Amino acid sequence: MPGFELFGPEEKAEVADVMENGFTFRYNFDPMRNDRWKARDMEKLLCEKMNAKHAHLVSSGTAALQTALHAAGIGAGDEVIVPPFTFVASVEAVAMAGAIPIFAEIDETLCLSPEGIEAAITPRTKAINLVHMCGSMAKMDEIKALCKKHNLVLIEDACQSIGGSYKGQALGTIGDVGCYSFDSVKTISCGEGGAVITNNEAIYNYSHMFSDHGHDHVGNDRGAEDHPIMGLNFRISEMNAALGLAQLRKLDRIIAIQRKNKATIKKEMQNLDGVSFREIPDPEGDSAGFLSFMLDSEERAIEVNKKLAENGVDGCFYWYVNNWHYLNNWKHIQELTSPAKTPLSLIADKPDYTKISVPKSDAIMSRTISMLIKLSWSDEEISQRIANIKKAFQK
Ligand SMILES: Cc1ncc(COP(=O)(O)O)c(C=O)c1O
Repeated sequence: MPGFELFGPEEKAEVADVMENGFTFRYNFDPMRNDRWKARDMEKLLCEKMNAKHAHLVSSGTAALQTALHAAGIGAGDEVIVPPFTFVASVEAVAMAGAIPIFAEIDETLCLSPEGIEAAITPRTKAINLVHMCGSMAKMDEIKALCKKHNLVLIEDACQSIGGSYKGQALGTIGDVGCYSFDSVKTISCGEGGAVITNNEAIYNYSHMFSDHGHDHVGNDRGAEDHPIMGLNFRISEMNAALGLAQLRKLDRIIAIQRKNKATIKKEMQNLDGVSFREIPDPEGDSAGFLSFMLDSEERAIEVNKKLAENGVDGCFYWYVNNWHYLNNWKHIQELTSPAKTPLSLIADKPDYTKISVPKSDAIMSRTISMLIKLSWSDEEISQRIANIKKAFQK
């Protein structure tokens, strides 16, 4: 998954171009920027690659989520269905918007399940924050149908799955609005950065305005611009966008390497005792950033995870006990710990987050291990890795 492994002369040249000829602010200041528009260029390329009408860069994936929620009209008191297995930002963004995160069950896709979503819908449900975890996708046909039936906004958190697709459509562009992260460890990196992607013009317009103090970005004089809405500053800098632009040009190559490396390892793991693989609704669209597999019991998963580390198989995650990615370890979310009163803390009839029960998700995550797929592995390193994996599985 990490695009930084391919940092090279292309990234250096783009960043140097800003330092030597340009200006770091993404808007206006035309005389100083010598026609350098890195954020704008990256947005254009993102639209082309994802076949989407609009993309807007922001300062992080978390900022993209916060922007997308706001731009889609999700705010105080609205219920948003979220998964218990995700990076904590997918939940934080909802909570900080004053909306109410409602946890629903995942299935063996490692994403929210259609049944889990349906069981969590109430008259207050406004949106689903559907996270395409670990490089692959949720059951999109069923989930889209549910959104249509219940008139729900579908937000796709594709922060871990850029380059993946479902039946030919890029992940992030299937719902109403999608989010990507370009942080340091993502498939492509801006250093820090993110994007909102959408085919909905109103959501796009509210996104670029919200993430820049409400500026309407009309004309050439920032000081004279109108502010149709209130906003904040989630802007990306030209330096970060320059890095991301060079990385985005490498996306197809990155995905091809991931797919090749993952397929080689997966094939060798097929016959290992007690292993099954994460369900992928459209295998052709897997971005292949991770190889996720299940063992037949929690005890065995703990044992195999330990033995993988002992045998030098690095980059393996047993998420069930990882305090960034699974609900049962998010004490601060469960208790809404904060030095200030947050809008969510003021909502009386919210769930008691210390008592959320997601037994189906527990049963899956307690048996699941994900292995990061790297870009820089040589053939010898992959063969050695496979040998080490096989050793780790010996009883
Ligand atoms: C699923 C998911 N959503 C959101 C984010 C937040 O992205 P960022 O680190 O760019 O804020 C991440 C980052 O790890 C993520 O994995």
